[in-house]
Formats: sequence, C-alpha cells, structure tokens
Amino acid sequence: MGVVRVSVPLRVSTLNGNAGIGAAVGRRTVWNDGWEFQRQGEAEFALDWRKLDLPHDWGIESGFERSLPGETGKLRWWGRAQYRKKLMLGAEDRDRRILLEIEGAMSNASVWVNGRRVGEWAYGYTTFRIDLTSYLHFEGENPDGNLIEIRLDNLPDSSRWYPGGGLYRNVWLVKCGRLHVAFDSPVVATRELAADGSQALLDINLEFSNTTPVTREIRVVTRLHRLEMDGSLSGDAIASTAPAEIELLPNAVTLHTARATISHPELWDVHSNIPVGASKVDRSTAFAPLYMAVTTLEDPANGEILDRTQAPFGIRILRFDSVTGFHLNHSPRPTRIQGVCLHHDLGPLGAAAHFDAIVRQLTLLRDMGCNAIRCAHNPPAPSFLDACDRMGFLVMNELCDAWRIAKKPNGYQTLFDAWAERDLCALVRRDRHHPSVILWSIGNEIPEQTSPDGPALSARLADLVRANDFERRPVTGGMNIPESGFNGWQKAYDVFGYNYKPHLYAAFREANPAIPLLGAETASCVSSRGEYAFPVSDDLSGGVTSVPPYHVSSYDLYAPAWATTPDREFAAQDLNTPGILGEFVWTGFDYLGEPTPFNDDSTNLLNAADPATREAIRAMLASLSGLQLPARSSYFGIFDLCGFPKDRYFLYQARWRPDLPMAHILPHWDWPERLGAITPVHVYTAGEEAELFLNGCSQGIRRRGRSDYRLRWDDVRYEPGELRVVVRKEDRPWTEATRRTTGPAKRIELKVDYFHLPNGITASPTLAFVTARITDADGQLCPRANDRLHFALPEESPLELLAVDNGDPTRLESFKAKNCCAFNGLALAIFRLRQNANQNQSRSPASVFQIRVHSADSALTEGTFANALSYVNIAAPHCT
Ligand code: GAL
Repeated sequence: MGVVRVSVPLRVSTLNGNAGIGAAVGRRTVWNDGWEFQRQGEAEFALDWRKLDLPHDWGIESGFERSLPGETGKLRWWGRAQYRKKLMLGAEDRDRRILLEIEGAMSNASVWVNGRRVGEWAYGYTTFRIDLTSYLHFEGENPDGNLIEIRLDNLPDSSRWYPGGGLYRNVWLVKCGRLHVAFDSPVVATRELAADGSQALLDINLEFSNTTPVTREIRVVTRLHRLEMDGSLSGDAIASTAPAEIELLPNAVTLHTARATISHPELWDVHSNIPVGASKVDRSTAFAPLYMAVTTLEDPANGEILDRTQAPFGIRILRFDSVTGFHLNHSPRPTRIQGVCLHHDLGPLGAAAHFDAIVRQLTLLRDMGCNAIRCAHNPPAPSFLDACDRMGFLVMNELCDAWRIAKKPNGYQTLFDAWAERDLCALVRRDRHHPSVILWSIGNEIPEQTSPDGPALSARLADLVRANDFERRPVTGGMNIPESGFNGWQKAYDVFGYNYKPHLYAAFREANPAIPLLGAETASCVSSRGEYAFPVSDDLSGGVTSVPPYHVSSYDLYAPAWATTPDREFAAQDLNTPGILGEFVWTGFDYLGEPTPFNDDSTNLLNAADPATREAIRAMLASLSGLQLPARSSYFGIFDLCGFPKDRYFLYQARWRPDLPMAHILPHWDWPERLGAITPVHVYTAGEEAELFLNGCSQGIRRRGRSDYRLRWDDVRYEPGELRVVVRKEDRPWTEATRRTTGPAKRIELKVDYFHLPNGITASPTLAFVTARITDADGQLCPRANDRLHFALPEESPLELLAVDNGDPTRLESFKAKNCCAFNGLALAIFRLRQNANQNQSRSPASVFQIRVHSADSALTEGTFANALSYVNIAAPHCT
C-alpha cells in the first residue's frame, strides 16, 4: 500500500474557520435550545434577557409599522442585538478542538468566549465556523463553565428585500480530535456512468486535517451505503474504497481521492423523472435515491478509530448543451428546468429557517410540476438543500446581489473586497456534495455587466468556484442588461442566465452558439390572490387598484415595466426550444418586502435599459413616493405569503404537468354587483379545445393557437349560477371543471398539514400548518369572505401558536396575533410542538391536540381539528 502525500498548509486561525458541513459521527450536535437574547433599544441594551430557542428572527416580533419602507417589509429588522449561552465542557474535551458552526447569522456577527472576541463573520447568508478551543475552560478550571456570546449588528439600508435579523438558522457545537476528516469532506462525485446506467465510477474526494505539530500516519477507508427513506443506512456496505495509508503533515490539510464502483446504481434524478418503483416510492411522493459515504480514519499502529464521518451523495451525471438543453444521466431527452426563484423568508415565520416550512414549500411546488429552485439572491439554509436532495429538485445556488457597485447604501459592496472570496469558498465548499446543486451563480444583476473591470471580476469569481468544486458544475448568473450577452461579459459564464429578456433569446443564441442559455428570472407577474379588477385590461401596467385596498387583479396579465407575463415568456421559450434550458419564474411564493407595484425602491430603475421604460418606472416611483402605502409583501408569488395558490399556479401546472387532466376557471363567480356586466372568463388547461357553459348555455368553443397558453371568453355577461368548462385533448373529451356562485358563509373548515422529519434529523421543531376555509353550506369556499377568525388551544396542549396570516400583502396586523381575518375565504395558522413537550404528551389522546377556530359571527359554525398525529414523514439526508 503506497503512502499518498498531497498537503497544503493549514491556516491556523481562530477567526473565521472554513464554512461547511461534514463533521464526524457524534461530534456535531444541534445547539439551538436555551439561548438568551436581548435587543438594543434606542439607546443602550435593555437589561432583561429573554430565553428562546433557535431558529429565531427578531424582525417579525415587533409587528408591521406603516411608516417603514415597504421594500423591506415594514418590519424593524435592523439594529444591534446579542445572544448568549453557557457551555460546560468535561475533562475529556480537553484534547479536542471545539468549534461553533453557525449556518447563518444576520448579520455582522462577532463571537465572544468568556469576554474575549474570538471571531467574526459579516455576511448574513453564508455558513461559518469559529474555533473556540484556546479560549475555553474545562471541567475543574471554572465552575461556571464558559459564556458564549454572539453579537450582531444589522445595518439599515442593506437589502432590497426583507433580510430578517438574528440567529435565524441552526447553530451546531462541533467537537473533534486534533486529527480528523476535514469539514466539508468527503465529497463524492460521479466520475463516469456507463451509457446504460449499469455501473458508476465514483471519486471520493477527502481532506484530512492535522492540527498537531507532528507528522502523523493514518489509515482511511470509505464505505458506501444506500440511504433508506427513513434516514437509516442499508445494512451492509454496497461498495468500499481500498484502504489507504496516508501521511499527514503537521498543521496542514491533506487531500486524497479514492475510487469506488457501484453496480446497478439507483440514479439521482428530478422527481418527475423518477420511474415508479425506484427507491421504493411512487411518483406521487417521488423521493430521489441517495447514498451515504461513511469514512473511517484509523491509527495504523494500533487500529484505534480516530474519526468517522458520514456524508450523503447522489449518483448522477449532468450535461448542459447549448443546442439540445440540460441532460441528466445520459438521457437523450432533455430535462427542462421548470423552476422558481425563492427568497429565503418563510412568510409568516419570517426568516427563521424552520425545516418543516421548507419541506412544505417544496411539496406545494412539486405538485405544480416545479422541479428547480433558484435561491435568490443568496445561499440558502443547508437544510433547504438537504430537502432538495431528497425530494428531487435542481438548485441554482447564488452568492449575492451586488459586487463593488452599490444597489443599497449598506449592501454587499461594503463587504465585497474583504469577504467575497471567503463567502464564495464558504458557499461552494459547504454545498458541493449536494446532488441537487447543478449551477453556481456568482451574482444577480451585477451592475458591473457594463463596467470595464466587470469581465475580470467575473472571471476571478468563476475560477474560484471551479477550483473548489470537484465536479466543476457550470458557473452562471442573472443578467439584466441586454448588452451583457454580447459585450464579452458573457464569456466568463458556462451557462448564461438572462433576467426578463425573452425578446433577446434568439439573438443571444445566434451570437453565442456554444453557450447554453437560461431564463434565470422570468415573468414577475403580479397579483393578489382572489382579487379581480374590471374592466379587464391587457395592458401590462393595468389591473392595479391604486386606491385602497392596493391590490393587483389576478387575471395574470400584469407585470412591472421591466418584466412580462407568463404567457409571453412561454411563447419566447417555445420559439427557441430546445436551446433554452428552461426558466426560473419570479417567484414561487410571495415574500416579505418588495411590494411592486407599490414599492418605491429606486433600485427598480436599474432594471430599465431603454429610456421609455426608465421614464415609466420613474413616473411610477414618483406617484408612490411619500404615500405610505400599506403594502408590505410582494405580489410576485405563484403562491401567496401563506402558501395558498393564486390562479397562475394552474397556468404553470398546465405547462409543467401537461398530462394532468386539469382545468381551472377564473375569476370566482360571486359578483352580485355585476349583474349583466361583461365579466371575462379565462381557463388554464393543457387541453387543446374547450367549450364554456354558463347555466347550461354555451358561451362558445375556444381552441388554442400556437402561442396561446389560456383559453379566453372575454364577452361573458355575469349572471349567478354555474360556469362549466368541458375540455378536449387529442380530439377526445379530457377533463371538466365548474365554478358556482356560493351561498352565505356557514362553516369554518380546517385542514391540518404536517411536513415532519422523523428520527431526530431535523434541527427545528415540528410544525402544524392549519388552513381555515370559510365555506357555504355545501362546503364551497366563499371567495369574498373576510370574517375574523380566532385560533384557540386547550390549556394542556403541547402545541403553541407561532404565527397567523391570510396572504393579503397589505395586512399590517402582527403575525404573532392570536386571530386574523380571512382574506378571500382563507387564513393560515402555524403551530409548533413545544420543544419541551415530553414523550408522554406526544402520546396523549388526540383531544389535547385539538385546535379550535371560531368567529364572532354566530352564523359561522366553529371548526375543530383533533387528529394531530398523522404526519407526512420525510427523511432528509444530512451530514453528521
Ligand atoms: C429583478 C431582481 C429581483 C426582483 C425582481 C422584481 O430584476 O433581480 O430581485 O427585484 O426584479 O421584478
């Protein structure tokens, strides 16, 4: 057995450890519970400390203030605050390295141990580790243990959307030996996959860290297991590397690549491509098959185990082709990127990265046919990628929203020179083992697209990505300036992403035949769920109720001046198919902040290249300035802030799941004030032809033309009753849908959903999502009901109410209230199983879990729900 020796010097620094995952089994523990928190008031820190558990976002606690900028959600998220917690260490810890791994701290964090500053990290979205070892007291040295403090300073005017504030993701305590598998390692990459998929050759890329002053020898072996759906490992290893003896230089990181072969691998794929039966699930749940690499490090002298780590991986090969599209696993058929952009907030939970809420979002998106996420405009929570790995989503993972040229006074440009390379390494090293990650984005709408130093900067960042990614996945970005596709800037990118430029797809492809092209940000259609404005205008800037209540009509025909409608974007893609890899729609869900068209953020002007558009945006901004509109969250979502689908959910579903027999009619049919008035009816379906009936009377047949993505009956006169559409496909009856005028509101119906992770893998507590629907006596949703609903629990309940909302972007009542008006028939309450709910309680009779919702209106029957023990179980993979 030869001795392999590839060493690089280890920068031993107590400031800013490398970011990432992959600690040894048992050496990384979630450190979320029992923190104390205090926020600085106007002058000094308040004296009182408050107990809380992570994840925590202080920005949503104090409620909305109408006078604050809508751009960042009318919430008070900036300012200074600190967290503290005791750390007790035993004598056995004395020989270990002790680190904190902080998945995200918003922002400008400094970490203090026993009164001494030991490290710092500025950017709120990247993960970092701080080595505490040399500042700590161990058993017998100080009876009080150690005081760990994390101080944060969130600067105002630093974001174009709601960033949140605080320790909003997980914190981990890491204890490891002086000689260990390095963090962010191993990374298993598929080197070759046989054309028929019968065999995969894998590279197991390992790094070892020797923090002792002497050279050491180790023996290493990596065993590969199947990762079962419940998170357990298949009994026996299905493959293994040959054991290797390696010499580790003092104070250095040593690299080592081993090989292994797997026969008949189950291939990682997007959920819609996973064949029935693969990984023991059917398509409706569609989980992607994963494996786990277990690496053991031994002392060759005596066989003592020095370290053991495990890291999940998927087996898959990616190919991006500028002519044929994006291919997975040698499939000749391209996989179209049917993606959405997502900001990191989780609606009424704010920025706090609750895993169950992430899984809920992905579940809702999957049902629509979405298979890809662009993390806009920053790295996501690690558990977001864990969920994407398991649920079969593709991810475009993004660094930032600015480089040196500012968008906001305190934006990323203030950090760029000092931090961009560290942040980018932190991002790529942390996330390179995820099979879901297919693209690295080095920035969104970077103004340097036309500046002289732009190309050099992008080349530098792109090279840094490639140097840290064993797989060399493509580097991309979101480009908003038309010239950037032609002026040389495009050459740094492996895949070029245009934001809102469907009219340039053909010209780009002609000028750059070798560069694959992506709609990195598309549509930006705006609407409020269940709101409709008449007469229906086809003008992009129409549909807006610029007098109270500040809504945008849900006919899905409206978008800001720089953007376009879904239909027009589809048409441009279809003309250029298959050369366009697909799209990322802005956005999957409404998010906090940026309430365009009621957003007075002047960075909107950056979206306009031509003078006429610029002028239109300038006029819009001028008309809004100083108005103090109530709008506090976006109108861009396909889902509203609560995760309730808007009409265009079905427009995308028809395109992305064309085999699903589905037809959706809009608007609702409750218009007592519109008797006899023209009330256009649109239908979203993948069918080719349909006939609409109003109270049994045909309104005519419509057939889709080449660039039609909806069927329209624009001259229907309203009368109450029933709309029915009968759809045909391939000249056969295919599906039907109806919409009826509803009766008076009678009942509150509750639906409770869990998106829970079993076996303790999750680091955030279990949530229950309770949808309250106001219905008529026949159970039909009353589409204009807005009754106030009160959410109540029995005293002994192990649940607590975390947040309420109704999806209305202008609602200024706090998410933390115990009641909430329905918005167009719907409201959401999110409950959490208390951290300290003990085992007995979670086995208590269903009655203690009862959730009651009532209204002051006695005509409404109260809703109750008590079957709180049925979970949707999803095991996400995780490094330990
Ligand atoms: C884009 C920008 C996004 C968002 C969007 C709204 O230009 O990249 O962050 O602002 O516009 O349409």
